[in-house]
Amino acid sequence: MTLKVCIAGATGWVGRELVTAVREADDMHLVGAVSRTAAGRDLGEALGGHPNGVTVSATTEEALKTDTDVLIDYTKPDVVKENIMAGIWSGTSVVVGTSGLTGADYAEIDAVASDEGVGVIASGNFSLTASLLQHFAMIAAQYLPSWEVIDYAGPTKPDAPSGTARELAERLSEQGEPQGRPEIGYPIDQIKGSREARGGTLGGTQVHSVRLPGYALSVENIFGLPGERLTLRHDAGTSAGIYIDGTLLATRRVPEVRGLIRGLDTLLF
Ligand SMILES: NC(=O)c1ccc[n+]([C@@H]2O[C@H](COP(=O)([O-])OP(=O)(O)OC[C@H]3O[C@@H](n4cnc5c(N)ncnc54)[C@H](OP(=O)(O)O)[C@@H]3O)[C@@H](O)[C@H]2O)c1
Repeated sequence: MTLKVCIAGATGWVGRELVTAVREADDMHLVGAVSRTAAGRDLGEALGGHPNGVTVSATTEEALKTDTDVLIDYTKPDVVKENIMAGIWSGTSVVVGTSGLTGADYAEIDAVASDEGVGVIASGNFSLTASLLQHFAMIAAQYLPSWEVIDYAGPTKPDAPSGTARELAERLSEQGEPQGRPEIGYPIDQIKGSREARGGTLGGTQVHSVRLPGYALSVENIFGLPGERLTLRHDAGTSAGIYIDGTLLATRRVPEVRGLIRGLDTLLF
């Protein structure tokens, strides 16, 4: 079966790599693309190449008027939820790469997708090695009671923490049940001085976001025990190519899914 795919954010850093990959895949057919600035143009020309017959839409809702099996979203935090809902309401499976959604957003998306019998796969990081980090972290959290997460990115990243760090923190806390894990030595709400210096609390996990020139995307999961510690770290380079295989894997699997699956590692392991 050939999957009819629409890419929201098709002119972006990740989106343009996906356009090539989807068009090269034997089992996929690119039927739609979304970008405000390229709206109305041929996608191939908008990307600086030859025409490819796909007309860019200004909104996802408009793009989904064309029959589509899977919507892939690599846009921006302020529009991604609206796009996912447009996908679900039109009966289209959705793969979400865009960061910025909270655990509460995903709970709502899961409920609506389950009710509608539609699948959504979201991953804060679609790279293989970041998925391995997530997998190893879930194992470590079953044995080690205390951890925190540090997220590093360049200075212009608009959201904090990164999608990778948020997903890691929220899923770690699920692994940490029974309640009370991760163990926090001194209660965060009783901190003297600046409470913010202890970072944000996401699902019970402390997360610290560093935004500085010279940094690309990295995430560190630090586990501490008396007298020893374990650090799991993932560093992304500057290519968007590392996210493509994982996104295509999710695209192939999502039509069989009902409700929400979070984390590429959930599909891999
Ligand atoms: N999960 C992962 O593995 C992973 C990996 C890398 C990045 N990300 C996340 O994916 C997202 C995209 O990253 P990127 O670096 O590719 O971003 P980018 O280069 O800024 O591209 C964003 C794309 O979305 C479009 N867009 C933005 N706002 C829009 C709107 N309101 N309506 C319609 N289209 C809109 C842009 O086109 P116009 O401006 O013309 O509308 C562009 O095509 C970010 O949230 C990033 O953190 C996730």
